[in-house]
Amino acid sequence: MALKDNIDRNKIPVHVAVIMDGNGRWAKQKGKERVVGHQHGVKAVREVTEAAAELGVKYLTLFAFSTENWQRPTDEVNALMSLLVTTLNAEISTLMENNIKLQTIGDLTIMPGQVRKKLMKTIDQTAANNGMTLILALSYSARWEITNAAREIARNVLDGKLDVDRIDKNLFSEYLQTKNIPDPDILVRTSGEYRISNFLLWQIAYTELYFTKKLWPDIRKQDLYEAIIDYQRRERRFGRINEQSRMNVDR
Ligand code: IPE
Ligand code: IPE
Ligand code: MG
Repeated sequence: MALKDNIDRNKIPVHVAVIMDGNGRWAKQKGKERVVGHQHGVKAVREVTEAAAELGVKYLTLFAFSTENWQRPTDEVNALMSLLVTTLNAEISTLMENNIKLQTIGDLTIMPGQVRKKLMKTIDQTAANNGMTLILALSYSARWEITNAAREIARNVLDGKLDVDRIDKNLFSEYLQTKNIPDPDILVRTSGEYRISNFLLWQIAYTELYFTKKLWPDIRKQDLYEAIIDYQRRERRFGRINEQSRMNVDR
């Protein structure tokens, strides 16, 4: 029996989030420049995106570039930015064939102009697709996102547009980049690092965490299947006791 057949089609996670990590180490192990690892990471992006869309995942969020990644050597940052443009050019057909809508979270205002333009164009081209939504986290960090939300809320209160007593967790979520996107059900991190690195801190409050030692460029469809099978074996209690959580009570 193929691994894929072990997946329960009635329990597919709605939102899968991924910290794609280990490109640099992958390249180093092969005696190559770090950028070669990033280039090979593109195949893993395609595989995981296709596999998720085929399984009926509704949202796939990929952490592609963090706020802190701007501090890497200029050559690496530039290589990542141009790789992003090349990839969007090459993969637009994959997005269309799989009915995938592209979205981004993060501070696009500090992305190079031509990268931002290409992103906007691809978002526009895929806007009518209604299968999976692929969310690229670019120039993103959770602390940036949460601080932004707090600033915007404060501004609205000062402007008299918002009553302080209306601020609760639902309203706060509306000010985040992920507004209208359900919280991730599972968060996958590759490369054997057991940390979150400033990704979706608010949204992962009750997300199931899954770590694999494999480096990102080695990731294939099978690895997503394994993560989902593992996720399906878990019992999510959301603070309740297991008898209650089995009854599917409202969160
Ligand atoms: C992930 O791989 C890609 C980005 C963060 C852009 P890394 O570049 O972090 O690779 P390692 O972790 O150094 O091996
Ligand atoms: C997290 O990976 C960011 C992305 C995958 C884009 P990093 O490689 O930047 O994280 P640290 O530095 O190991 O925590
Ligand atoms: Mg890394």
